[in-house]
Amino acid sequence: MGKHVSRRNFMGGMAAAVGYLSTRPSAELWAQGGPAAVAAQRARGRMTPEQYDRMAKLANNENNFGPPASVMKAMNAAWKYVNRYGYPDGNIVQVIADHHGVKPENILLGAGSGEILDVVGTTFLLGGKKAIGCDPSYGSVYQHATAIKADSIRVPLKADYNLDTNRMIELANQRASEIGFYYLCNPNNPTGLIVPKQEVKAIVENLPKGMPILIDEAYHHFVNTPDYETSVPYVLEGRPVIVARTFSKIAGLAAMRLGYAVAPREIIQQMRPFSMGSINVLVKHGGVASIQDTAAQADVKDKIITLRTKTAGELKAHGYDVIPSETNFFMVHLGRPVQPVIEEFRQREVLVGRPFPPMLEHLRVSVGTAEEMDRFMAAFKQIFPAKTRQTSLAGR
Ligand SMILES: Cc1ncc(COP(=O)(O)O)c(C=O)c1O
Repeated sequence: MGKHVSRRNFMGGMAAAVGYLSTRPSAELWAQGGPAAVAAQRARGRMTPEQYDRMAKLANNENNFGPPASVMKAMNAAWKYVNRYGYPDGNIVQVIADHHGVKPENILLGAGSGEILDVVGTTFLLGGKKAIGCDPSYGSVYQHATAIKADSIRVPLKADYNLDTNRMIELANQRASEIGFYYLCNPNNPTGLIVPKQEVKAIVENLPKGMPILIDEAYHHFVNTPDYETSVPYVLEGRPVIVARTFSKIAGLAAMRLGYAVAPREIIQQMRPFSMGSINVLVKHGGVASIQDTAAQADVKDKIITLRTKTAGELKAHGYDVIPSETNFFMVHLGRPVQPVIEEFRQREVLVGRPFPPMLEHLRVSVGTAEEMDRFMAAFKQIFPAKTRQTSLAGR
């Protein structure tokens, strides 16, 4: 638990901002990239605030455009409550419930959706049960399982980097008594690929009856393809589905820590005792403003997709394949190990994603501002020669 708290408790202030970069759990880094990854992370931890500010920050799938004026205004207006326990909270739970067409009893707030993922783990894995999910995916779920002395069953992605949902359903049925919940990250991190709605339906309909399904929709707002849809309707149907959402991505509020679960009332009741309930007043008001400012959300989505498409096009023109993402990040196939490349980018003041085994020749790049993407491309061209022929199969 401690390592998760240290990574997520982003309390504001520049020292904490640098700390966020430096405190990604070492165990995860060892697992994902070995000693070199740990050393690189420690080196990043030694950055001064000035160095941090200079970096193009394309490592953590943040929203580099930050919150819009409407959200800043709402948060600024809430400062007058910071000395209070009981204060007007903007009706954040009701606003979220209305947004999804559910009742407040179907909503649980978390300090980021990371807290929601941990709460699901604690609720359904205590006593040594296992989470079943794909690999690679958002590793936090599996690390939390390990931290509470539970475990996970991780099914490798298929050769085309899509989830092997059939295999996952099969295993979930075969080993039902061992499994605490089923984890689906949709779209998946780190690939940026969606799980099509028909496959989600097959999962919901074919898992053992009553098995909780955690569907992490952190990147929901960036998706364009009609093959995808949110899983909130399954909650309305009364299925044992828990949808996790965050204000860290589209809303640009990662450091403010707000996320939530949408789930049937009985599941929320089971989860609630394990949540801290420590959401700050500023983000409650900012969250309400963010949900209401649909124009700002559309604007940031548009900017990010335009920049992602442009950068992917430039990488392909340079001879490097990109996995076609539906999110605010993408993976490019390098054709050589990613670990030293991360350091080469860092030397050029560009922070890029960590290694995601077994995809050790892929680099995950978050989509930042136009200026940051230009810096990324300039650095990429310095590090990688142009290739005349695309490595079409390897990177697809
Ligand atoms: C798939 C996924 N889920 C959840 C999270 C947690 O985000 P937060 O705790 O900021 O809401 C992240 C963060 O990167 C993520 O990529």
